[in-house]
Amino acid sequence: MKKKDKIRRKENLQRMLTDSEFTVKGKCVISLMLTKLDIINTFLLMKYNRTIIQMKTGRVKGYDSVCKKLSKKGLELDREIALEKINDLIGVRAICSYVDDIYRVADLLEKQKDIRIVKVKDYIKQPKKSGYQSLHMILDVAIAFQQETQWIRVELQLRTAAMDYWANLDHQLRYKRGKKETDMIDEELQQCAEVITQLDQKMLEVRKKIDRI
Ligand code: GTP
Ligand code: MG
Repeated sequence: MKKKDKIRRKENLQRMLTDSEFTVKGKCVISLMLTKLDIINTFLLMKYNRTIIQMKTGRVKGYDSVCKKLSKKGLELDREIALEKINDLIGVRAICSYVDDIYRVADLLEKQKDIRIVKVKDYIKQPKKSGYQSLHMILDVAIAFQQETQWIRVELQLRTAAMDYWANLDHQLRYKRGKKETDMIDEELQQCAEVITQLDQKMLEVRKKIDRI
């Protein structure tokens, strides 16, 4: 490809990810998803008498981060390619109290007519090699704008507070650690992930015991 063409495509990608229609619509879909989660939380609160979703956030992926991901995947820095190949350009994360709550929230979202499930990746039943755990749902979400309804791709990550704690520290450490010590540290982080799993299971058992009283 010509250098000029490459630059033009890169500029197009940058434009899409900075104050464009895409980012505005992305923020709208995030609001919609956060509201959906609020509604689910309200109904589950009535049903179970406790808070199911503790915290939730959303973000539109920044230009630098998208470039990094495309390069890592060996893809060109191009707007259409990013839209097609990167599922988490728009991302929402919800932190649930207990592991079983994650599946309750997922079930309720699956039933909604304005949500299409593209893919579910269950890294709780099958954690990643790193030790990472979460339930990922790749969704197409319908949202009405002035003229038309559009389906927009969103990655929803559902996890417990313990899984979130591990993922955040893992993320921080991944950037800091040197090549040489990687294997040893990877193993230690995997061990920490196992402790996290046990903790989540124990907490769930305790809650179930209390539920029975
Ligand atoms: P990327 O891994 O994001 O390039 O895309 P993918 O299609 O392989 O998706 P995957 O489900 O593997 O991961 C998507 C997201 O999950 C990532 O962007 C991270 O937010 C998170 N994630 C996946 N693996 C790890 C991990 O080992 N550690 C941490 N901290 N987060 C992870
Ligand atoms: Mg990955």
